[in-house]
Amino acid sequence: MEKYFIIDFDSTFTKVEALDILGEISLESHPEKKERLQKIKDITDKGMDGGLNFRESLDQRIGLLNARREHLGSLIDSLKEKVSNSFKRNKDFFETYKDHIYIISNGFKDFIVPIVTEYGVKEDHVHANSFHFDDEGRITGFDPDNVLSSNNGKVKVLKNLGLLGDVYVIGDGYTDYEIKEAGLANKFYAFTENVERENILENADHVAPSLDEFLFVNKMNTAISYPKNRIKVLLLENIHPRAVEIMKHEGYKVEIYPGGLDEAELCEKIKGVSILGIRSKTQVTAKVIENADRLMAVGAFCIGTNQIDLDACLRRGVAVFNAPFSNTRSVVELAIAEIIFLMRNLRDKIIGMHEGKWMKSASSSFEVRGKKIGIVGYGNIGSQLSVVAETFGLDVYYYDAEDKLGLGNASRCESLEELLKTVDIVSLHVDGRPENKNMISEREFGWMRDGVIFLNLARGHVVDIKALKNAIESGKVKGAAVDVFPVEPKTNEEEFVSELRGLKNTILTPHIGGSTLEAQENIADFVPGKIMQYVNSGSTSNSVNFPNLQLPDFPDAHRLIHIHENMPGILAKINKVLAEHDINIVGQYLKTNELIGYVITDIDKEYDKKLTNALKGIDHTIKFRVLY
Ligand code: NAI
Repeated sequence: MEKYFIIDFDSTFTKVEALDILGEISLESHPEKKERLQKIKDITDKGMDGGLNFRESLDQRIGLLNARREHLGSLIDSLKEKVSNSFKRNKDFFETYKDHIYIISNGFKDFIVPIVTEYGVKEDHVHANSFHFDDEGRITGFDPDNVLSSNNGKVKVLKNLGLLGDVYVIGDGYTDYEIKEAGLANKFYAFTENVERENILENADHVAPSLDEFLFVNKMNTAISYPKNRIKVLLLENIHPRAVEIMKHEGYKVEIYPGGLDEAELCEKIKGVSILGIRSKTQVTAKVIENADRLMAVGAFCIGTNQIDLDACLRRGVAVFNAPFSNTRSVVELAIAEIIFLMRNLRDKIIGMHEGKWMKSASSSFEVRGKKIGIVGYGNIGSQLSVVAETFGLDVYYYDAEDKLGLGNASRCESLEELLKTVDIVSLHVDGRPENKNMISEREFGWMRDGVIFLNLARGHVVDIKALKNAIESGKVKGAAVDVFPVEPKTNEEEFVSELRGLKNTILTPHIGGSTLEAQENIADFVPGKIMQYVNSGSTSNSVNFPNLQLPDFPDAHRLIHIHENMPGILAKINKVLAEHDINIVGQYLKTNELIGYVITDIDKEYDKKLTNALKGIDHTIKFRVLY
């Protein structure tokens, strides 16, 4: 049975209503521009929802437009830019099925034909109205004999066409549904990529958030492997709206949840979810992962990933991404501020002022310029602090467990002891690995210079709190700033309990080093970016648990993504299967870690289901997917 595709133009083929855009152009310098454009929009919507006689609506809009022939060129240029994204990426569909595609629209051929013929649609398959012009080129009306200028026009066109076969209608308006209602189409697909109209959704056989979805359900997709609207994203813990917006814009089906979920709730909710986004509260346990049937990636919209069972994710082929340096700068700025505060003894002076004490004195107040700062842990934050501290005139020394290149004029110390004995200010920026527990204790304070300034904005358990307290009380440490604690309150309602409370020249802050609105926004940009890159290309750069692979683009190739348990010989097996199917490899990338192997193979040939089944069937395969 032949298949015919009836496609609407305004808000379906293009993202916009062409007459609205024509109004923008023709009313450019008209004094009533705003009011008239709004009126045109209102009339369009009323017509779309089936609430206004079509001919009346057209008459009224043309009257308001004040348009002329010469405006049409700009309109066409503008519409070319505004073709719906999923139409653009599925250009092949129009070429391949050009004999079976009809554009039926209540718009005007004058602008529809130039747009759709570029996609391969035949000119005589475009059914739409045509403008009437007066002698001076003004658009004065439309051809009243054209059936599309009257109510039920689309139905009449379909009747005249007399197509023999299955008819599928894709559109966003009531007039598209009317074709199905009249019994002239097998199915009506409500197209919602650009607009959603309630009364159309109710009547649709299927909702198509993109052309990809339509092609997928009809097994005709060639441009993308899987419609993005079928990728379900679950975002918990009030993730920044920017992240929600980015994921929605990508076409994903996004569900948001203000709070966290406990294990049992998440085990239920995770079913069918492809991408999970969390912050620090939600525990992604092995049990949650066991219940995840479609999960591809977890995004931690924060820095730490202790709340996620990374190995369980790895064993199930689930890539985890976080935002390791989105708040780096925020931590650095707080550290700099605190160093200056402590060098000037400001904490005590400020509290004194609030108690009515005027303590004007220069004693034990110093500039930071020329002082030596010792940075312990020269990672993202440590190295950034190095640069900023140097611009403030500090002499920078650093110590890192690994060989790290010193930035600017920073001097590397061979040992922690050497560093602590050298500097006036100590700032900790090591990570929270278990071995770092109490790495700064009595002995290390003993190494420090008398009257040192000490900062911990890294992790609470890194410092022995009792030893710090003694060092402050003895005057060894002249001033301290602590942002992180071995035990921190879980909520803002809980009391903060610490031996450090009330100590002299000691700044205590509630783990806010990285908490700025800029950092939140950076995280909301960064994590979706990494996840989308993984979904679209297989690149795992910055993944916390996956072997990191930054992959090139793959124009004109299919990309096979194979994730397997790390056992010897799997790559050989993959290549044997490819050879048996006579597949030519154009690129291959492999990276492993202790648990998994990640193999990407780009191939230049059509493949069939047998190949994908054979690859899925290789022993120890965890996950397999194809991109094209
Ligand atoms: P990173 O992983 O980039 O850098 C850590 C560096 O410490 C690495 O270069 C590592 O080699 C080094 N290191 C680890 N153990 C060491 C040791 N015992 N001795 C010497 N060097 C050692 O981490 P990043 O992003 O710079 O973060 C640093 C710390 O800041 C982390 O503990 C992180 O949790 C904390 N942080 C705190 C925030 C806050 O709100 N206060 C916000 C963001 C991060």
